[in-house]
Amino acid sequence: MDSKQSFIDCFRNAAPYIHAHHGRTFVLQIGGDVVASETFTHLIHDLALLNSLAVKLVIVFGARPQIDALLKERNVTPQYNGALRVTDEASISSVKQAVGDIKIQIEALLSMGLPNSPMAESSVKIASGNYVTGRPYGIVKGVDLDLTGKVRSIEKNTINARLDAGEIVLISPLGYSVTGEIFNLSSIEVASQVAIDLSAEKLIMLNNASVLKNEAGEVIRQLTCEEAKSKLDPVTVNQIDETPSTALAFGIKACEAGVKRVHYLDQSIDGGILQELFTRDGIGTLLSGTPFDTIQQATVHDIGGILELIEPLEEQGILVKRSREKLEIDINDYIVLVRDGSVIACAALHQYPDEKVAEIACMVVHPDYQKQEKGEVLYELIEALAKKEGMETLFLLTTQTLHWFIEKGFVEAKIEDIPVEKQTLYNYQRNSKILIKNLS
Ligand SMILES: CC(C)(COP(=O)(O)OP(=O)(O)OC[C@H]1O[C@@H](n2cnc3c(N)ncnc32)[C@H](O)[C@@H]1OP(=O)(O)O)[C@@H](O)C(=O)NCCC(=O)NCCS
Repeated sequence: MDSKQSFIDCFRNAAPYIHAHHGRTFVLQIGGDVVASETFTHLIHDLALLNSLAVKLVIVFGARPQIDALLKERNVTPQYNGALRVTDEASISSVKQAVGDIKIQIEALLSMGLPNSPMAESSVKIASGNYVTGRPYGIVKGVDLDLTGKVRSIEKNTINARLDAGEIVLISPLGYSVTGEIFNLSSIEVASQVAIDLSAEKLIMLNNASVLKNEAGEVIRQLTCEEAKSKLDPVTVNQIDETPSTALAFGIKACEAGVKRVHYLDQSIDGGILQELFTRDGIGTLLSGTPFDTIQQATVHDIGGILELIEPLEEQGILVKRSREKLEIDINDYIVLVRDGSVIACAALHQYPDEKVAEIACMVVHPDYQKQEKGEVLYELIEALAKKEGMETLFLLTTQTLHWFIEKGFVEAKIEDIPVEKQTLYNYQRNSKILIKNLS
């Protein structure tokens, strides 16, 4: 495929996501290490693009490595209690300076607008202020964490007003108290609480540690809150710091409080946020309250997706051609497997109730998702459905999937073995094999 066509395809494939994200609130947590990385400028350009696409964006940044670097410069040894920083009077000025520097850096990058750069013609407005109230973390295992704090409350109405005005809201990991103190907070906790209070559509965590991997070192692509809970470290579960365990715990908290999706992204991937938000499969770990793939009875709204799935196979002669009208008539016979709003597999069960016979038809799994037992799952569901409806025999016509069905217990049969109504429609030119399975 030439690059022009691939650009057109990418842009068109992104269109459903551009529509879906329009006007939604996303909260993005970025660790201090992201700010220090080489790809940070690109990330900021991508965030400006999201703002242009009418995404309501809140950025919460962390500053841990920058604070440590400043403390070192000033010959102050960083004090930690486990993974928790002890923010004493000696270190708070470094905290303020590091946070202030990052805030100014982000504001400056978002203000760029040079011609021939991704920021040309952009005019991003940034809002920030005393949106987070903090309180002391307190004493942990006998150690007073001093000015290390926890979130007490979020100024959600003010934040929402700024977002409604089209501004990007920038939030630092500092919380102010009614007594005028400044608390050093975890950006992860702040981001999670902001996402909850704003009922955000997404909480996105971008730092160097929070992508979830399995034992083989591969990124875990999706998991539900229930699955994620089993991965929490029971020892550190209530700790609020900047570790992967905290990121997971606060992701679960946000999810359970109604944030629809929590994404964990690897900061080192340039453009990762665009891939995550504008492609079907993304690149990071997606945490959601409900399973990612859903199998459901098809409706007329799925017809476009089914046609997209089956048309290439019709052209190859693997499936018989079905018109949109035929699909509309039979749509109640179809089940679809939907991922993120897209139909990625389908199957139909056409019943002949008088003969207690049913036909499996149009069984397709999108090539990107084959060999993941999705076909198996769909088949089992169709078979269970047939049994529930009192069918005693299943049959199907196939030209190229003989063995797949034989492994499911089908045997070859003759045309006389299928309902007469279907016999009259048999296309001798296609010369399909007839397979049959006794369900009783
Ligand atoms: C047949 C189909 C639905 C299976 O979906 P799937 O999600 O990949 O199925 P599963 O993951 O449960 O099973 C995968 C296994 O089936 C095998 N398989 C896939 N297509 C096959 C075929 N045409 N014949 C025999 N075996 C096949 C795979 O090799 C794999 O076996 P392996 O793991 O031992 O290598 C899918 O390949 C598809 O959509 N094919 C094109 C459409 C089609 O032919 N539909 C049937 C119309 S009658």
